[in-house]
Amino acid sequence: MQAVFLGSDPLSLDTPLLAVAIPEGATASDGFLARLDAHLAGSLSRLLDAGDLKGKAKDEIVLYGGGPGPKRVVLLGVGKTAEFDAEQVRRFAARGVRVAERLGLDAVSVWLDGHGQSAGAVLAQAAAEGAVLAAWRFTELKKLPEEGQTQVIDVRFLGEGDAAALAEGVRVGEIVARAENLARTLQSRPGNVATPSHLAAEAARVAAERGLAVTVFDEARLAEGGMHAILAVSQGSDQEARLIVLEHKGGAEGEAPLVLVGKGLTFDAGGISIKPAPGMEDMKYDMSGGAAVIAALQAVAELGVKANVVGIVPSSENLLNGKAIKPGDIIHTLAGKTVEVINTDAEGRLILADALAWGARLGPSAMVDCATLTGAVVISLGRHAAAVMSNDESLSEELRAAGARSGERCWPLPLWPEYTKQLESESADLMNVGGREGGSITAACFLKEFVGDVPWAHLDIAGTAYGDGKLPYQRKGGYGFPTRLLVEWVRSRAG
Ligand code: BES
Ligand code: MN
Ligand code: ZN
Repeated sequence: MQAVFLGSDPLSLDTPLLAVAIPEGATASDGFLARLDAHLAGSLSRLLDAGDLKGKAKDEIVLYGGGPGPKRVVLLGVGKTAEFDAEQVRRFAARGVRVAERLGLDAVSVWLDGHGQSAGAVLAQAAAEGAVLAAWRFTELKKLPEEGQTQVIDVRFLGEGDAAALAEGVRVGEIVARAENLARTLQSRPGNVATPSHLAAEAARVAAERGLAVTVFDEARLAEGGMHAILAVSQGSDQEARLIVLEHKGGAEGEAPLVLVGKGLTFDAGGISIKPAPGMEDMKYDMSGGAAVIAALQAVAELGVKANVVGIVPSSENLLNGKAIKPGDIIHTLAGKTVEVINTDAEGRLILADALAWGARLGPSAMVDCATLTGAVVISLGRHAAAVMSNDESLSEELRAAGARSGERCWPLPLWPEYTKQLESESADLMNVGGREGGSITAACFLKEFVGDVPWAHLDIAGTAYGDGKLPYQRKGGYGFPTRLLVEWVRSRAG
């Protein structure tokens, strides 16, 4: 896969397909559309004048040029100009790739025109993200179906204006999207492939390729370190747990790091509190947060972000055998607090408790975790946003804003002390569940007990990490969410 910026003249470019956004009310009387109309021997203006292409969001028409230049032009309606924001650009570029795929083409060129809504670098980054994400498929365990056998491998971007800004936007967008595609690939691998040690090996590979430092704790080292909550979850499984630590040293030595933590539960059967069978196969996606953190570290390293960034991924299975933790068991966490395990299916917060306590010891300026933590978050926000819950209002707002810019949205829920009360236990410092009411919030309140006074935020991504693939840049399966959000936030912090 290749994504490059090639200047401002697509009409003399030898390309099998050029994708052009057509907003509502577009005319071919001047500017690029007038030149395009000439290339198409007037068929664009006749099309628009006849009212057969109105620029509505679903409109799609392919026209054929004669002579040199683009062989085909796909006109993609994008709706109202005023609403053509970065997310609409992402979707437009993705549609260009999907049309190429349908036509059996392995290359596409994309005309960048923000219609005054996005600055050059933002526009180009969003377009590159959309195109590179759209080209991803999980093919390693399946023969490609007859139809759609081509994979788009070459995307060129062209546009007018600040060429340096456009080229830089394409470069950044390609890096971010390729990282998100790595997260998607890791997510898509089934539980028998993507085990904790597999995730650790993938993290080590990324580290070696991108110049990150990597440390992997096996179970002996987890025990030495006192991370008994991770070990408790893992004890019911034959696969050994791992704690993966990736470090990007892009800031000054001794400068407080940004810490990203991702739940890397490679299969969640629920343990003794076993889940019902229907849909249980989706619990291979319970490592989505960990995949996004590994991917975000890859992107941060490639972008050379000027900050110290640490990624931590606690990874385990949650199965059930004769050694598995049982409801009522009390475990010792790294932070020194004891936890009564009421429900073994609330395992994510247990492995995160130790990972967050480990992260807090690094003295971060801020720590953000992401986890497919509760089904309840789907009830709260549906599948259109993750929940963000934090002990620091400005951090929460930074993440909300980074989410809006990246198209991976999150929205705040409160962490009032009344919710923490729901976690009080008779026999331990905390219970691992707080009842059905406010389930996403009580889960976050549990995590909050392990971060000390570090500014921290938790993203519950159970509703947004994977799905049916509704958007043009998604497929059914893993979405890589929230890789883009995390990278955007880290970059905003690094200034
Ligand atoms: N991994 C699940 C959460 C989940 C549910 C992710 C649906 C994706 C889709 C988590 O470990 C879990 O089982 N949570 C329980 C918590 C409950 C026992 C308090 C839940 O949400 O039901
Ligand atoms: Mn669970
Ligand atoms: Zn889980």
